[in-house]
Amino acid sequence: MLPLIDTHCHLLAGLDDGPADMDSAIEMCRAARADGVSRVLAVAHQNPCWPNATRDRILESAQQLQQRLDHDGISVRVLPCGEVMIGAELMDDWAAGRLVSVGDAARYLLLEMPHGLLLDIGSLIAELVAEGVRPILAHPERYRPLWFQPGLMVDWIRRGCLMQACADGVLSREPQVQRQLRQWIARDWIHLVASDGHSLTTRPPQLAAAHDLIAHWTSPIVAQRLTYHHPLAIFESQRLIVPHPKVPKRRWSFR
Ligand SMILES: [Fe+2]
Repeated sequence: MLPLIDTHCHLLAGLDDGPADMDSAIEMCRAARADGVSRVLAVAHQNPCWPNATRDRILESAQQLQQRLDHDGISVRVLPCGEVMIGAELMDDWAAGRLVSVGDAARYLLLEMPHGLLLDIGSLIAELVAEGVRPILAHPERYRPLWFQPGLMVDWIRRGCLMQACADGVLSREPQVQRQLRQWIARDWIHLVASDGHSLTTRPPQLAAAHDLIAHWTSPIVAQRLTYHHPLAIFESQRLIVPHPKVPKRRWSFR
């Protein structure tokens, strides 16, 4: 079985739109383990829609999940992580210690765009990098205006942002979504692939099928880089060096 690490799965019972209770979270972890996943970032949304997902609750919930996994003999390691919605207060919230970075280690911070919006986050990325924390943008393929602004994406990557595609985007039934991700992966614009799992039925926590398809599109080396080697560095809060984004020679409307 391939070793896989999931850097985005909603597993913290009752804190957001992930599993409603601990038993459901455990069943998701069993499914992830059966898929080859040994480590998971246990994520909860941090935005005004989910006021219970405070830093203390996220840390406590991830600890309880790990205890239950250990008790049940499920060999999955989890670390806490917020999925922080980008907004005007983000840097204030960061300074006040309200946000949960990957493993609460203040090295990587998972971000998502506000609902229905695509903001230019170049200056936010620079501010976070200057603070010593590297942003990870979740599911860029869902922000369709970004498909038509390649210059924006390259700028964000060059400023230090990592791009985390969703496995259900890779496996999408919409050919245009797959085409976009395939192109971005070929250009080294995607650094991680994660499940963004919410339940066993809604976006299940599975990565192996996405890994296999990426291996088919590119090579096994690239597939393992996106689903294991890069995630391992994130999980362990180590420095991550990624390939320079390839920029096609033909003329674009760059920005
Ligand atoms: Fe998510």
